[in-house]
Amino acid sequence: MQALVDTTAAPGAASARPRDVPPTLAARYDAVRARTVALVASLDAEDMVVQSMPDASPAKWHLAHTTWFFETFLLGPNVAGYDVFDPVFAYLFNSYYEAVGPRHPRPLRGLLTRPTTSHVMAYRAHVDGAMRALIATGVPAGLEPLLRLGLAHEEQHQELLVMDVQHLFAQSPLKPAFDPAWPSPEAEGAGRFRPVGGGPVRIGAVDEAFIFDNEGPAHTAWLEPFEIADRLVTNGQWLAFMAQGGYRRPDLWLSDGWAQCQQEGWTAPLYWEHDGTAWSHMTPAGWCPVDPDAAVVHISYYEADAFARWAGARLPTESEWEHAVRSRADLKQVDGVAWQWTASAYAAYPGFRAADDAVGEYNGKFMSGQMVLRGGASVTPAGHSRPSYRNFYRAGQRWMFAGLRLARDVATSPDRDRLAFLRDTLAGLSSTPRTFSPKYFYDAAGSELFEAICRTPEYYPTRTESALLAEIAPELAAAIPPGAVLLELGSGASDKTRALLDAAPWIDAYVPVDISPDALDGAAARLRAAYPSLAVHPVVADFTREIGLPKALAGRPVVAFFPGSTIGNFTHEEAASLLRSVRAQLGADARFIVGADQVKDLDVLLAAYDDAAGVTATFNRNVLVRIGRELGGDIAPEAFAHKALWNAERERIEMHLVSTADQSVTLAGQTFDFAAGESIHTENSHKFTPASFARLAAAGGWRIEREWISDDPAFGIYLMTAY
Ligand code: AVI
Repeated sequence: MQALVDTTAAPGAASARPRDVPPTLAARYDAVRARTVALVASLDAEDMVVQSMPDASPAKWHLAHTTWFFETFLLGPNVAGYDVFDPVFAYLFNSYYEAVGPRHPRPLRGLLTRPTTSHVMAYRAHVDGAMRALIATGVPAGLEPLLRLGLAHEEQHQELLVMDVQHLFAQSPLKPAFDPAWPSPEAEGAGRFRPVGGGPVRIGAVDEAFIFDNEGPAHTAWLEPFEIADRLVTNGQWLAFMAQGGYRRPDLWLSDGWAQCQQEGWTAPLYWEHDGTAWSHMTPAGWCPVDPDAAVVHISYYEADAFARWAGARLPTESEWEHAVRSRADLKQVDGVAWQWTASAYAAYPGFRAADDAVGEYNGKFMSGQMVLRGGASVTPAGHSRPSYRNFYRAGQRWMFAGLRLARDVATSPDRDRLAFLRDTLAGLSSTPRTFSPKYFYDAAGSELFEAICRTPEYYPTRTESALLAEIAPELAAAIPPGAVLLELGSGASDKTRALLDAAPWIDAYVPVDISPDALDGAAARLRAAYPSLAVHPVVADFTREIGLPKALAGRPVVAFFPGSTIGNFTHEEAASLLRSVRAQLGADARFIVGADQVKDLDVLLAAYDDAAGVTATFNRNVLVRIGRELGGDIAPEAFAHKALWNAERERIEMHLVSTADQSVTLAGQTFDFAAGESIHTENSHKFTPASFARLAAAGGWRIEREWISDDPAFGIYLMTAY
C-alpha cells in the first residue's frame, strides 16, 4: 500500500483539533467496507483460505489486513480505551510495516486456517463499530488523511482480492468463476496513433482531494513530440505477435525477460489455454473464449516491451502517458480496462520525501526494481484511479490486469525547431552562468541585423576578409584541383564564394550547406545564373552535425570552405570536433580553407562588437525579441543592456545581455530571477594567432599548408590539408 498526502489538509493539520467531518466521510467508509464484503459474497469459506502463490494472499487475509490497518493506525493510537480485538492479529495481519513489529511470513498466509473466516468477519464488525463511533464524534483534522488512506488502501486490496482469487481458481481443473456476472470491459478493437506535442509539461497530482504520496511533488518534465495509441493493444494483435514467433525470438526480448520466458515456458499471456481449436482464458467471470477485439491483459512488462519492439513501437514513459491522457480527449480505455505498462522505472519524483511515521513505509521503500503502470483495470474500484496514479509491479509479474498502450517517436514534428529553441532557452536560463547559443541570433531580422553590422564602420572582419580573399584568390585557386567540388559550410548568401569560383573556373560543383532553406534557394539561383556550367547542389543541414555530401559527388576531390570567422563562435572543443567531423566526412585528400579573425588591439575589437550606432546592441537584444515572438513569456528586451567585453584568458570577445534591474521573467510557466547586473552570455567570438589556430587545426586533424594574414586590422585565411 502507499503513503498518503492530504492535499486538502490545512497548515497545522497535525494538531488534534476536531473539525467538521465532511458528510461524505461516514458514507464513504461504509461504502468501501461494504464493497469488500460484497466482493466475497459468492465465495465459500474454503475459497478464502488458500494461497495460490507467494505473491497472492487468501481472501480471508485481505479481509483481515484491511481491518488491521484501521485498528493499527487509527484506533489504537488515537481512541482512548480502544479495545484491541485480538493482540495476535498485529502479528498475523501486518503486511510489511517494520515500524509496527514482526509479522507472519507472507508465503505462509495460506496456512492460517485460524482465525476462521467468521472470526475475521467478527473482527471487521468490531473495528467498524469503533471506526463509526470515531467518525461520528468528529475525526480530528490530522487523522482524516490517514482515514482516507485506509479507505484507498482497502480499495487497493479489493482489486488484489479479485486478482488473487482468480489466480487461485485458475489452478483448479473446475475453473470456477469469481463472479459469473462480472462485466467484461468494452472491446474497442485496434487503435490508431495520435500525435502529442512535446515541450515542458507538468507531471504529478494537483488539486486532488486525496493522492498517494508517490504522485507528487508535481514537477516539470520535458517531452519530445511523440505519438500514442488511442486504444490498448488487443488480443487479436497479440495473437499476430504469437503467430509471428513473438515468444520464440530472443531478439525481441530484454535479457531478463527472455530468461524468465524460457524458464517458465511462456507462449501466451497468463491464463491463456489452447484446446486444439481456439484460445480461452480465465477472467473474473470464469473461463471464456479470447475475444480478439478486447484488450490483452495478464502480460508482464517483458512481454509488453517485446510486443512493442515487434510492432516497431515502444511503451510510453509515464510522463508521456500522463501528459497524453490530460491533453487528448480522444484516448479510449484510459482506465477501467487494464493497467498499462510504461517504460518508466518506479522511482521518486524530484523532491519526494517519505513521511517519517509508519505509513511512510507505504510507497517510498518500494522505489527500486519495479516498473510503473498507469490507468486502471476492470477490477479497479470505480473512482479509485486518476491520471497521476502510479501503480507499480516487478517486470516479470503477470497476475495483475496489466496490458499495454503503444507509443512511438516521431521523426519530424511541425514544432520541432520551436521546441529545440524552447528547450535550449530554458536550459540556458537555468544554467549558471546563464547562456544562450548564438545560433538563435539568426532569424530573418537577426540575419538582416548581421548584414547591417557588416556595414558599420567599426565591424572590420567581413570587408577585411573579402579584400584578403580577392587578393589571394589566385594562390588559393592553385590549391584547388581540376574537377573539384567546393563545399561551403554555413554558406548563407554565398557572397564570398565568388572570389574562389572566379579564380578557379575548373571547379565542377558547388555544395552550399546551410540551415536556412530560404538562404540556400536564393544563393543557388543566383550562382546558377552567374555560373551556368557549375553544378550547384544545395544541402539543408546543420553542418555541426552531419553534412551528407550528395552521392553523385562521391570520389571527387573536395575543398571545404568556411569563411567569416564563424569558427570563432564555437568553443575550442566544439571547433576541434567540427574540424574532425569535416575531416572524417571528406577523407584524407581533402583541403580546407578557413577564415579566422586575429587577436588585435583591444579598442578595435571592442568597437567592432559595440558600434556607435547600436546595431550590434540591437542584434544582441533581438534574441530576446525572438524568444517573445516564438516562445511567448514576458522577457522585456529593453530591460537588458548589450555588453561586449574582452576575455583575455580565452582570447575572445564575449557578448552579454545584462539585466538593468532586479527582475523576474517567465517562460513556459517557469520563473527566472535576475539581479541587476546579472547577465546572459549570448556569444563568444574567439580571436586567433597563427600559433593558436595551428593548435586548433591539429586538434581537428588538419595541418596548415599556407596562411595569409591581412594588414591591420588583422584577419587570417588558412589553407589546410588533412593529417
Ligand atoms: C558570425 N560571426 C562570425 C560574427 C562574429 O563576429 O562573431 C557574429 C557577430 N556578433 C556580433 N557581431 C557579429
